[in-house]
Amino acid sequence: MKFRVRPVRKLAGEAEVPGDKSVSHRAALLGALAEGVSEVQGFLEAEDCLRTITAVQALGAEVTRKGPGHYRIAGAGLRGLSEPGDVVDCGNSGTTARLLAGLLAGQPFWTLMTGDASLRRRPMGRIAEPLRTMGATIVGRAEGTRLPLAIRGTATPKAIDYATPVASAQIKSAVLLAGLGADGPVTVTEPAPSRDHSERMLRRFGARLETGERTVTLTPGPLRATSVVVPGDISSAAFLLVAGAIVGDARVTLHRVGVNPTRTGILDVLEAMGARIGRSQAADEGEPTASLTVTSGALRATEIGGARLIPRLIDEVPILAVAAAIAPGVTVVRDATELRVKESDRAAAIARELGKLGARIEERPDGMAITGGHPLRGAAVNSGGDHRMAMALAVAGLVAQGETLIEDVECVATSFPQFADIVNALAGAPAITVEA
Ligand code: S3P
Repeated sequence: MKFRVRPVRKLAGEAEVPGDKSVSHRAALLGALAEGVSEVQGFLEAEDCLRTITAVQALGAEVTRKGPGHYRIAGAGLRGLSEPGDVVDCGNSGTTARLLAGLLAGQPFWTLMTGDASLRRRPMGRIAEPLRTMGATIVGRAEGTRLPLAIRGTATPKAIDYATPVASAQIKSAVLLAGLGADGPVTVTEPAPSRDHSERMLRRFGARLETGERTVTLTPGPLRATSVVVPGDISSAAFLLVAGAIVGDARVTLHRVGVNPTRTGILDVLEAMGARIGRSQAADEGEPTASLTVTSGALRATEIGGARLIPRLIDEVPILAVAAAIAPGVTVVRDATELRVKESDRAAAIARELGKLGARIEERPDGMAITGGHPLRGAAVNSGGDHRMAMALAVAGLVAQGETLIEDVECVATSFPQFADIVNALAGAPAITVEA
């Protein structure tokens, strides 16, 4: 499937972005482990999160779809799940694979897990190592560091105090999920804070947690069912925010966007670049939300780096690179080696594909340097099967001269199936058309 993208002069209107991917995964996993029936509203019905639903169903949790984004999950309790009858396919979803591995480390049966070609390349040693220390048996490709993996958990994982070398919410969450049934408190310390959705939702499900700046300690115990309202995904909103900032005449309001401070690095950077973004705080049902209004204006280059900032915007680097390509001056992205182990090697993909549109980007081991302000021109590019690359390239196409053809865009369905429709509605014209 391809996107054909035509430049637009104007974007105007309001939109609601779909549910947060990270929060949706956690709602399905915690709902499955809880005692009782949980109710989830605003669940992201995109491929990645539906993989997690299918996975928990395969383990014996009963999931009923009540309406769009509305699910009822009858949990099996910490000890009520059962061995799946077939391989669990996590598709393109790293969060499904890594968080599920944590859940499985506390289950005394074998599960086989695999994923698509991209996910089978991504590092799993980072979760396998602490989960093995907790007593799980994990075997598979590359000495048990790549999918497919076979995992046999234990009913009572060993308590650990784990210092993770990477600031990764997936690692932290895997250890915490394994820790729910552990024989004592489990502590995870990170080099810098990562997104805290697991901590917030575990508390909502009745777990006992103590959190510090870079540390979390979980006291094992059962979860009780609850209701979860999933906020809109700021990582999806990011594409529309940058589009609104760079298209000549734009004013776009996005409602109910999750603005958890561990995720709002994109707003800080866009504001540092001179983007005009207004926020009006809305509900906070475990996760804070806001309406965000972006108005177009001139951008300037900035620095994007540091151990504290990078985890707060790691998924937004592809779209920030588009903003940086427009902004006169040199924007440097550093301390972001994690870009290389996402759905694709994003440091390489950004430099290569945005380069085809005329952006001047020098790839660096830990990021890139982008010399902005040179006009973009439409060209044929490829997402490499990475949803965030596909959408970043499409936004670049909105301000390029001529048409941009983006190949391999099925992947957009993993996180933001409505992306093209929302852009077209804001443009008031078919700016992005889908071709076979
Ligand atoms: C996620 C954590 C981040 C992020 C990913 C989702 C999560 O990955 O890039 O898209 O839901 O926990 P890492 O934990 O590898 O940093």
